[in-house]
Formats: sequence, C-alpha cells, structure tokens
Amino acid sequence: MRDILGYQGTPCVVVGAATGMGEACARTLSEMGAEVTALDIAPITAPVKESVEVDLADPASIEAAVGKLPAEVPKLFVCAGVPGPPRFDNLATMTVNFVGVRHAIEKILPRVPRGGAVALISSIAGVGYAKNLDKWKELMAISDFGESRAWCEANPDPANGYLGSKQALNVYTQLRASELVEREIRLNALLPCPTDTQMLPDFHAQAGGKENLEQFFHSPMGRNATPEEMAEPLILLNSDAASFVSGHLLIVDHGYCGEVNVGIRQGLL
Ligand SMILES: NC(=O)c1ccc[n+]([C@@H]2O[C@H](COP(=O)([O-])OP(=O)(O)OC[C@H]3O[C@@H](n4cnc5c(N)ncnc54)[C@H](O)[C@@H]3O)[C@@H](O)[C@H]2O)c1
Repeated sequence: MRDILGYQGTPCVVVGAATGMGEACARTLSEMGAEVTALDIAPITAPVKESVEVDLADPASIEAAVGKLPAEVPKLFVCAGVPGPPRFDNLATMTVNFVGVRHAIEKILPRVPRGGAVALISSIAGVGYAKNLDKWKELMAISDFGESRAWCEANPDPANGYLGSKQALNVYTQLRASELVEREIRLNALLPCPTDTQMLPDFHAQAGGKENLEQFFHSPMGRNATPEEMAEPLILLNSDAASFVSGHLLIVDHGYCGEVNVGIRQGLL
C-alpha cells in the first residue's frame, strides 16, 4: 500500500491540542502512527507521546515550552485560539490568537527541517484581510512579542479582536510562506466555518443568539462542521500529499464563501 500522507513515525507538534479541532488533530495523528507532542494551556487527554503546558499569552511560557520539544519538528500544527468577549477582551484576543501564535511558530521554526511543514488554524472570519493590508504589514514588520502587543493596543482598528486576529494570521501565512520558500518549508492556514466545539457558544452569544449566527454564517449544508471535518483537511495540508501547497488559505466551509463570492449570499466579513 502506498502511504501518500506520510505520517507513520513522523514527529508532529500540535499546539492547542486539549479540545476541539486541535484535540481531533492530535488524536488522529496518533492513530496514523505519528509521534505527537501536544501543547496547551489546558490538560491534554488525547493519546499522545508527550504533553507540554504552554500559555500563548506569555512569551516566557512559549519559550520554555519550545525548549522541551524534540530537536526536529518536521510537522507543526497550531490550532490554539480564544473566541473574544466577554471572556477575552480585544487585546487579549489579539495577543493569544495572533501575537502568541506567531511567536510560537517563529520560536519552533529553527527546529523545522528542510522539507518540513507548518499549518495553522485561522478562520473565515479573517477573509476580509485585504481591506487592511497596509496596516497589517506594519504589524508583520514587528517581531518582538511586547512591541507587537503594543501595536495592537495602539491600533484597535484593524486589531479589533477575533476578526482582526484572524485577518492578521491570513496575512502572516502568505507573507511568511514566501520567505520560507528558500528553506523549503511550507506554511498554510485552514479557515474553518462554524464548527461544533466548546468555542461555538461564545460565537452564538456574540451574534446575539444561535439563530443569528446560523442565519448569516451556516454552511450551505445547514449544519456546523465537526472538529474532525476540520482536523483532517489540516492534516492533509501538512502531509506529503500537499508537497506543492504553500501560502494557501484553505477555506473549509462546504461552499459558504463560494456562495458569497458569486453573489448568491450576502457577505458580512
Ligand atoms: N469553532 C468554530 O466555530 C471556529 C470557527 C473558525 C475558526 N475557529 C478556530 O479554530 C481553532 C480551534 O478552536 P476550537 O473551535 O477547536 O475551540 P477550542 O476552544 O476547543 O480549542 C482552542 C484550544 O486552544 C487552547 N488555548 C486557548 N488559549 C490558549 C493559550 N493562551 N495558550 C495555549 N492554548 C490555548 C484551548 O485550551 C483549546 O484547547 C481556533 O484557532 C479558533 O479560533 C473556530
């Protein structure tokens, strides 16, 4: 049998692996024979080789966690994120979802060998990034954690919380993928639609009710995705089968954005 995905015996690191899509990713990779190191601020339950605690809001915690990772990380998955208010204000959301996610990736990148791959989870919430491209490029030019956070604080438009954090990730993915070409490392992002995880009730509350979110953002299938329906395309992005895929924003929404693009459906993002 030919294994076109190539995870058997491969060291993989999954950041944000306690629940939801990250848990499904870590569990599925283990089932595929990968050697998984799982990171999260919350306890890991997936059957992985090793677990490491990390708080993406804290650069010292990120750096300490990276020091515990295998010397070579051929496949890196970054799934962690927070939903925004009321539990996380806009700056806290930008800090975890963009500043912390980018810091973790940049600190792990020296361990990613030639031919390696990085995949992060952004969101369809960030599809409107081009409207703010010049501003986001200012943020991309700042590498320091504290200075990046300060930029977000000083620029609440466009660094406006959940949407802003996902727009920033979409810009980062495409800019950084271009720079990583010379190291033969691929970088891609998955952009999920609403998915049944512990985060979804927060989005319902922000939209003023489940019905509002579903009216405007439900996939054409009329249901939410499952965590596995996001984890598996993410695994595909980092696999050998995607060896010529980089700088790509993989929208996984069963055609929602397509309907917006051709004017069948109103676009709000
Ligand atoms: N659920 C949705 O509808 C949806 C839609 C689009 C995008 N997303 C994105 O998908 C990704 C996965 O979210 P999910 O829906 O599986 O929700 P989830 O809450 O189950 O998963 C998020 C994970 O991130 C971890 N995390 C949160 N803050 C952290 C921190 N400071 N340091 C380390 N880890 C931290 C959590 O403990 C959790 O394991 C997120 O980036 C989210 O923004 C979710």
